Amino acid sequence: MNKFRVFLVGLALTFGLPWFFLLIVPTLQMSRLAPLPVYELDENGQKVIGEDGKGNIVSYYPPLSSGSKTKGEEIYVREGCAQCHSQLIRDPRVAMDSYKREWGSVFDSMAPLQTRPTNQRDYLAGHYPVLGIRRLGGDLSNVAYRYGSREQMHLMIYDSRIAQPSSIMPPYRFLYKTRKIEGNGPSVRALALTGDLAPEPGYEVIPTGDAEALVDYLMALKKNYTDPSKPVVADAEAK
Ligand code: HEC
Repeated sequence: MNKFRVFLVGLALTFGLPWFFLLIVPTLQMSRLAPLPVYELDENGQKVIGEDGKGNIVSYYPPLSSGSKTKGEEIYVREGCAQCHSQLIRDPRVAMDSYKREWGSVFDSMAPLQTRPTNQRDYLAGHYPVLGIRRLGGDLSNVAYRYGSREQMHLMIYDSRIAQPSSIMPPYRFLYKTRKIEGNGPSVRALALTGDLAPEPGYEVIPTGDAEALVDYLMALKKNYTDPSKPVVADAEAK
């Protein structure tokens, strides 16, 4: 009987402790978090006080998702991008994520640039915390640093084998449509497709609204705002 009791307590602890620390504690921590307001500062770094006696809020940490970025996030979830891509940079004390060159630095810099680990507040930016479940593709927390143009990002989504012939990422061509070139020639939004992928003469491939929203979302993925635990500065964008 005694052993049975030990067994029951052991069983309860085996399931109870992970449940408590992995679900309850983070849920309580997250529910208390709110985006931090960023105030307008004058040239001396002092808060500009508005007529109502309060500071003028210019933005939030993290920058909140809105409009087409939110729609893009929904498409990211709908298409299951998080099945292969994470958005989670772990602390350097437990993993080397933040030193991985393609996960946050610019391509032309040879030295790995350390990016900061993501923190709980980062996930308040969007409507879904798309942490991801595995990394068949790279982490996308800072993907916008790696793309110079929307066009380049569209080509990656249209067919990743354009950039990397052995890529296993599925092509998302259904987010694009082929249409007849009309009027004054090809649209500025038409993809520069060559070889087998080029549309028939007289036709062009252009992104649908879904593809544009997805790219809006991806091109905003950069953790260029300072860690909220550090003092807040208004011109973080310039850093
Ligand atoms: C089956 C797994 C898989 C799925 C699903 C997937 N990807 Fe990928 N993705 C990859 C792999 C693998 C790479 C690495 C590039 C390569 O193949 O060489 C990649 C690369 C990328 C890159 C370039 C990353 C970089 O660091 O430059 C972007 C952007 C991207 N994927 C976006 C998406 C989006 C958006 C979706 C959803 C619409 C998606 N991926 C779905 C596997 C996947």
